[in-house]
Amino acid sequence: MAAKRQPIISGNWKMHHNHFEAIQCVQKLHYRLDGDDHSSVDVTVHPPFTDLRSIQTLVESDKMQIVLGAQNCHWEEKGAFTGEVAAPFLAKLNVAFVIVGHSERREYFGETDEQVNLKVKAVLGNGMTPIMCCGETLEEREAGQAEAKVERQVREGLAGVLKEHVAAMVIAYEPIWAIGTGKVATSDDAQAMCAHVRKVVAEVAGADAAASVRIQYGGSVKPGNIAELMSQADIDGALVGGASLEADEFAAIVQYRNHVTG
Ligand code: PGA
Repeated sequence: MAAKRQPIISGNWKMHHNHFEAIQCVQKLHYRLDGDDHSSVDVTVHPPFTDLRSIQTLVESDKMQIVLGAQNCHWEEKGAFTGEVAAPFLAKLNVAFVIVGHSERREYFGETDEQVNLKVKAVLGNGMTPIMCCGETLEEREAGQAEAKVERQVREGLAGVLKEHVAAMVIAYEPIWAIGTGKVATSDDAQAMCAHVRKVVAEVAGADAAASVRIQYGGSVKPGNIAELMSQADIDGALVGGASLEADEFAAIVQYRNHVTG
C-alpha cells in the first residue's frame, strides 16, 4: 500500500463573510487550532475574492498554518473577460488551493467539463493545487447513473493533465443532493464513490497518481459525522460549506480525531 495521505479539510465559504468577518473567522479558527491539528491535517480556507488579500496578510504576518484557497478562477492568464479573476492573480496572493468545478458553478454559471479541465490546467500551470469537484444529482443517483456521471467528470476534468500533477491534486466528491441540505451520504456510499474516483484516476493517470491523489467528501459535513467519514479508506478529507463559516464548528471538524464516532 502507498504511504498514508495527509488529510486535508477545506472550508468553502461560498458567498459569505466580507473581509472584516473573514478576518475575525480566521483569527478565531487559528486560536482554536493547535500545533497537533496542523501537523496532522492540512486546513484550507476559501473566502470570496474580495477577502483574499486581507486573509493573506493575516495568515502571513501571524505565521498561521491555515492555508489560503480560492473558490474559482478563469483559465486565461489575462484578457477582456469582465468580472473574471485570472489564476496568476491568485498565485500572486500566495493562494495555494483553488476549488474548480464546484456543482454550484456548474449548475448556476453553466460551467462545462471542458472549462473545468481548462481551469485545472490554469491552476496547475500557476503552481497552485486544484480541488476539482464532481458529484451526481439525486435524479442521477436514483436512475443508477451516479458512477457514470462522476467518472465522466473526473476523466474530462483530468484530460491531458500530467500524471505527476494529478498525483498532487485534490478531488472532491460532493453528491449534489447532500450539499447544504443536511443530508449526508452514508459513509459506505461516500466510500464507494471515492473508491470509484480513485479507480478512474488509476485508469487515467496510473497507479502511483491514484495512490497519492487526495479525495475529499463534501456535502453536509458536520462535527458529528466527520470522524465516521474520515475512517473510510478512500476518504482523505472534507470540503465543508456551511459548517466552515463558524470557527468553532470548523475547528471541531478539523479536530475529528477527538470525536467519538456514532
Ligand atoms: P455544505 O457544502 O457543507 O454546506 O453541504 C459543501 C460544499 O458545497 O462544498
